[in-house]
Amino acid sequence: MHHFHYREGELCAEEVPLRDLAERYGTPLYVYSHATLTRHIRRFQRAFGDDVLVAYSVKANPNLAVIAALAAEGAGADVVSRGELQRALAAGVPPERIVFAGVGKRRDELELALARGILQLNVEVEGELELLDELGRARGAPAPVALRVNPDVPADTHRYIQTGNKADKFGIPLEEAPAMFRRAAALPGVEPVGVACHIGSQILRLEPFAEALARVRQLVLDLRAEGIDLRRIDIGGGLGVRYRDETPPTLEDYAGIVRKAVGDLGCELAAEPGRVILANAGVLLTRVLYRKEVGEKRFVIVDQAMNDLQRPALYDAFHDVWPVKEATQRIPADVVGPICETSDFLSRDGDVPDAQPGDLLCAMSAGAYGRSMSSNYNSRARAAEVLVRGDEAFLIQERETLESLWAGERIPGFLGG
Ligand code: LLP
Repeated sequence: MHHFHYREGELCAEEVPLRDLAERYGTPLYVYSHATLTRHIRRFQRAFGDDVLVAYSVKANPNLAVIAALAAEGAGADVVSRGELQRALAAGVPPERIVFAGVGKRRDELELALARGILQLNVEVEGELELLDELGRARGAPAPVALRVNPDVPADTHRYIQTGNKADKFGIPLEEAPAMFRRAAALPGVEPVGVACHIGSQILRLEPFAEALARVRQLVLDLRAEGIDLRRIDIGGGLGVRYRDETPPTLEDYAGIVRKAVGDLGCELAAEPGRVILANAGVLLTRVLYRKEVGEKRFVIVDQAMNDLQRPALYDAFHDVWPVKEATQRIPADVVGPICETSDFLSRDGDVPDAQPGDLLCAMSAGAYGRSMSSNYNSRARAAEVLVRGDEAFLIQERETLESLWAGERIPGFLGG
């Protein structure tokens, strides 16, 4: 469900015609709908209940305005780097609603997290546990730690975004987890407060979640029997969304299997959703530059490229392409960007709008892992971002200037610099 719809033949974000935004801010342009993202966070919170901490996964879309909009609805933040931690704090997320996850955190990152008093650090490697013990002792206050376990449950999703297989770099193998928890319990500088688990992203069936949580449940019970009483279970993120014709589980069903698996343990719950909140709350607006035909093949060349939206190139991901002008025929063609790689396509052999040079198109469902994964490849400035609320549009990220791309570069003296 989202708030991008046609009014009088023109695609609008809420009440604002996308054509107006393209004229005002240029293209390519990321456009988000405030009503959509607040609707999603509210539905997530309603499905799970007020007592569950919904820590929005900042990596999906780290714009300060986006984080602030979600924080205004009571969301916390799941961060994985110093940059994301500082963003979450700058956007006004209370430290006690921040979870710091990630495969390996630097000392300065851990120090900042402890100094700011965040809720919990998710640890998945012994060396980091030891470093936290040292830092916790030095501070005279134990570091609140959850251990992330790897439940060895394959998630039915692109291989690059599965994280719960035994051979993946993520988490502590389930069979080694009890020993790690014992270790954590014995270290004076850390306090084991919880267990965390995340098996992947864009997961469209509930069974892998249920399976992983059943394993987490058993671990919590086994540890409890030994006198290690964990007070929090962090279920991670990963719920899939509709990009084409997928039918993802409802939030209510997802919350239902979580409650069924671990609801009776008396533990607090935390969740780290990203995609399900943001993906369908954003589009990437682009203008057609040229048309080209090579034999049978038709290409629509647009001004967005794989540096703006990497998902098709990286995961062969599908993003529907909608015309801004409603009454546009659809034809089989490739929608491609100007970058010098064959992987620079938005849609390949798809059924796409028969758009002409100058027309505007939209890559749908681009709110999550869109702008956040964009790069400067081919020395392209990254796109601007606009947040629409009702009939108002707010520029929440200026378009990068080209000068800023090389502002930090230096030509050594021997080359004339
Ligand atoms: N928690 C942890 C520990 C994670 O690693 C992730 C995502 C999340 C939460 C949020 O997952 P979500 O609810 O968004 O599925 N760039 C890829 C997705 C990478 C996901 C990485 N981890 C894509 O564009 O599909």
